[in-house]
Amino acid sequence: MPAAIQPLLQVQDVSLIYATSRQKVRATHRLSLDVFEGDRFVLLGASGCGKSSLLKALGGFLRPAQGRILLDGQPVHGPGPDRVAVFQEFDQLPPWKTVRENVMFPLLASGRAGRAEARERAQAMLAKVGLAPFADVHPHQLSGGMKQRVAIARALAMQPRVLLMDEPFAALDALTRRQMQQELLALWEELRFTLVFVTHSIEEALVVGNRIAILSPHPGRVRAELNSHEFDLSSQGSAQFQAAAQRIHRLLFEQQATSI
Ligand SMILES: Nc1ncnc2c1ncn2[C@@H]1O[C@H](COP(=O)(O)OP(=O)(O)OP(=O)(O)O)[C@@H](O)[C@H]1O
Ligand SMILES: [Mg+2]
Repeated sequence: MPAAIQPLLQVQDVSLIYATSRQKVRATHRLSLDVFEGDRFVLLGASGCGKSSLLKALGGFLRPAQGRILLDGQPVHGPGPDRVAVFQEFDQLPPWKTVRENVMFPLLASGRAGRAEARERAQAMLAKVGLAPFADVHPHQLSGGMKQRVAIARALAMQPRVLLMDEPFAALDALTRRQMQQELLALWEELRFTLVFVTHSIEEALVVGNRIAILSPHPGRVRAELNSHEFDLSSQGSAQFQAAAQRIHRLLFEQQATSI
């Protein structure tokens, strides 16, 4: 019998709790999921259901109060260059560094590359996101979409085991958002990285993901998991796409009705 494939990332029974002096907020409760190498795994759920908290825990920035997170079978104890994150905010790039320096910085700071190699990798990755001509400008000279492309180039230049993205396109206009989804999928086709992608858009989840975990709120739990590899931007108007979107909508809506 062939050995079972081990998931790259295992979230086992994870409860995340924020304790303040006045109260304890439970962000997730005994949440479990498996992400396999090359997955485009989407965490979908309403505001406050613990998506960002879970991503922080995957990044090693938030320690589970219960359960554990394994990467390649090894417990995650803290942040590491094998997991890098891209956030929604346009200010995630230090403004005093040029675009190229921004992309080089984590490579240098983590010791993953020397200056010459970091420069080469930065240039190659900036070319992949169409920003080679902007390598010497500063972030304030870029549009929101361009800033997010730099953040993606910076993350992928690290060649992480897992790319974590927390609503990276949510602050963009609809057209740019669509274009960025397309570009992300093209990058994935070429580089086949493992992606964990947070969104509260059903359409974005279906387009970007090959698997979707639907989370229920207060505290976050996995309500359902489904495959969505058959969808891309071109299938958005199709009856199948609409049916899948409606099914997810019902799952999200029902969970709200039952949690009131
Ligand atoms: N630093 C913190 N201190 C205390 N409570 C927090 C903190 N961060 C998040 N929470 C709480 O944890 C719960 C989950 O928050 P989280 O930010 O993970 O949700 P989310 O699904 O990412 O929401 P959104 O879609 O609005 O980004 C919420 O009830 C929130 O109030
Ligand atoms: Mg969030």
